Amino acid sequence: MYNDLLKMADLSKEEINDILNLAMQLKYETKNGIEHKHLAGQTLGMIFQKASTRTRVSFETGMYQLGGQALFLSSRDLQIGRGEPVEDTARVLSRYLDGIMIRTFAQKEVEDLAEYASIPIINGLTDYCHPCQVLADLQTIREFKGGFDGLKMCYIGDGNNMANSLIVGGLTVGMNVSVACPEGYRPDSQVLDFAKAYGGAFKMTDNVLEAAQGADVLFTDVWASMGQEDEAEKRRLAFKGYQINDAVMDVAAKDAMVQHCLPAHREEEITAKVFEAHANEIFEEAENRLHAQKAVMVKLMGKK
Ligand code: CP
Ligand code: NVA
Repeated sequence: MYNDLLKMADLSKEEINDILNLAMQLKYETKNGIEHKHLAGQTLGMIFQKASTRTRVSFETGMYQLGGQALFLSSRDLQIGRGEPVEDTARVLSRYLDGIMIRTFAQKEVEDLAEYASIPIINGLTDYCHPCQVLADLQTIREFKGGFDGLKMCYIGDGNNMANSLIVGGLTVGMNVSVACPEGYRPDSQVLDFAKAYGGAFKMTDNVLEAAQGADVLFTDVWASMGQEDEAEKRRLAFKGYQINDAVMDVAAKDAMVQHCLPAHREEEITAKVFEAHANEIFEEAENRLHAQKAVMVKLMGKK
């Protein structure tokens, strides 16, 4: 049982499916104007140390739709940005709020916040992982493909927060996962250890076409993540060819879907042509951030 959402490995297969079932129900209700104010009177604090479009707007709108409210807390304005310890911030905010979503750099900061807070903590992206995004991704795959059994997921590009969470999430729900990253940019070693237990269901290579062979769903992400702006030029060289393009689509399954957490850099990790051909799936994925996160908040904060 989970009291926070800090990383995908916090969730079992059953818990993920349970969240996705609720996400689908909330999506149906939202689209049909059926009220679901499960968090009436509750407040979510949203601490942002990095930029955001989707995460901020979907959490804020989601809380409103659930009958509560969300506070946008930029770290530039919080005392945390001036060095107030996270353990103090956690204990103070626990006395005002009903839950906290945090987007920051170090995973440890999120783990520390959870340790000292007495309210649920939700990871809205760290350098290590992006569990909210991957729940929305899994929801989208389930909607388009009807389930996970027998599917092959492929991730091409940087072994970053998205790669880490997709590997754990994909394997947990029962997909085969193959990942193509250049040498030196592989996923986190803890994640690779986690994947080892899945034996032949996981494959790590530096060969893009080998990873994409027969894939049912293809993922990629930016070559330089937030906080890596100084490395952008070096990374552009390192990731050349680690792109979802026609050649990749040719070796994937005929009805392969394409996912991107966004923002996307056209002609870097994905061609404009492939992006536009799969825009429907990609923007459904973006929409599902709202529904999946509402489900997470109801599960975590609705216990009160
Ligand atoms: N995918 C994602 O997390 O988008 P934002 O950075 O806009 O929140
Ligand atoms: N890997 C990207 C994901 C953005 C949603 C980053 O961390 O910037």
